[in-house]
Amino acid sequence: MRLSNDLRLQAQTLIAGRLGLDFSKGRQADLERGLVQACRISSVSAPETYLAWLATLPDESAEWRRLASHLTVGETYFFRDRALFEALEQHVLPSLIEACRAQEILRLRLWSAGSATGEEPYSLAILLDRLLPDLANWALTILATDINPDALETARRGCYREWSFRETPQRIRDRYFQRRSAETFEVDPAIRGMVTFAPLNLVEESYPAMVTNTIAMDLILCRNVLMYFTREAQRASVIRLQRALVTGGWLVVSPAEASTDLLHPLAPVNFAGAILYRKEPTSVAPLAPTWQPEIVLPELDDTLPFAYSSGDLVTPPLPVTSPDITSDLQRAKVLADQGRLEEAHELCEAALARDRLDPETHLLLASVCHERGDIPAALEALRRAVYLAPDSASAHFLLGSLLLRQGQRKRGRRSMETVVSLLSSVPRDEPVAGGDGLTAGRLLETARAYLELPS
Ligand SMILES: C[S@@+](CC[C@H](N)C(=O)[O-])C[C@H]1O[C@@H](n2cnc3c(N)ncnc32)[C@H](O)[C@@H]1O
Repeated sequence: MRLSNDLRLQAQTLIAGRLGLDFSKGRQADLERGLVQACRISSVSAPETYLAWLATLPDESAEWRRLASHLTVGETYFFRDRALFEALEQHVLPSLIEACRAQEILRLRLWSAGSATGEEPYSLAILLDRLLPDLANWALTILATDINPDALETARRGCYREWSFRETPQRIRDRYFQRRSAETFEVDPAIRGMVTFAPLNLVEESYPAMVTNTIAMDLILCRNVLMYFTREAQRASVIRLQRALVTGGWLVVSPAEASTDLLHPLAPVNFAGAILYRKEPTSVAPLAPTWQPEIVLPELDDTLPFAYSSGDLVTPPLPVTSPDITSDLQRAKVLADQGRLEEAHELCEAALARDRLDPETHLLLASVCHERGDIPAALEALRRAVYLAPDSASAHFLLGSLLLRQGQRKRGRRSMETVVSLLSSVPRDEPVAGGDGLTAGRLLETARAYLELPS
């Protein structure tokens, strides 16, 4: 089946607008192939009808995600780009680890954004395993997200063929993989348990946000993803990724995507054969035109034990009972966004000492505990939040994602179903309480994306 020029142009424009993918230069054949495949699977008779239908669907809907999985490239392998992994193993991770040890806070948060079938986040987990003799004492987050549900499922299974190991040293293969059949090798369960997989479309505004666990990252790898985006989508994604980093955190893109202009104001840092980008204290990203803050907090009084710049954004105020609690919650939220989780935790506890029945405080405490890597405390706080506010979609969502991560599939799915039923009749553009500015439509579709993953 061939598309007419008009139809191809129409598809190109629609897909650039909704998925951020750029099919303008030399990639028309890829567009045509992906579109025809998706159209066939959706049992729609003609691409014209399929496109017209897509245009009526919100961009976060399941059909757009399905189409995205036909239009994106999933090529990846373990330790892809030797120079980069050497820089990570010899310089970047040791310096982050040393800083944590100096502060006596043994916590690191890493994110593989566009993780495909999981080789990249598992490579990070292996590096950490090699670098941390006291691994058991650390609260480690390795978040791995992708738009493609099939890729996420393959990643979760953790079984790979020879081709995924084309740059993997033999000693790593011997230590971290077990042969399962003539052709497949399974990643060590301990390494698999270090990585959390979640659906996330980088072109959507669902990050950085506490509910998607995408704030306060020390290191983000977003490689070989942005190169397929339009310039506007690249810029908007990079701005959000920068905001997801703590000060001093690192963003890694592939050499083909590295551009000081695109990544400004992150500072390029050269290592042998690799350039990484660091968020310096002065790196304040301009705001994406499509992502205006609801509220910008005023400068804080210098006498307070923390401060934030006027460029820091916060969510709309939460419906809380007393002004004291409101301001504590807002401060705790700002601190959490900056990765100052101990201080955020203290403020939440102080707010709860004044009012133990405030569900928003329990929800924030749960997010902070989650980011600190204290999953039992996060689950406990969420149970309280859900008990006190049974209609809080954010609380059910966070509870669901944590339960799924813990392997509690049935209960996790039940929580996600509750999110779907709570949000189905809410206007799509309405911000969700406690959702970091996420709209009902986006949280709803993310919950649906979790439910689509095989149980
Ligand atoms: C070429 S792979 C890169 C894998 C890995 N980062 C690497 O460099 O080896 C690109 C991945 O980006 C994902 N991707 C593409 N567009 C995306 C989007 N808008 N949001 C999230 N993931 C996306 C694709 O599904 C695919 O799995």
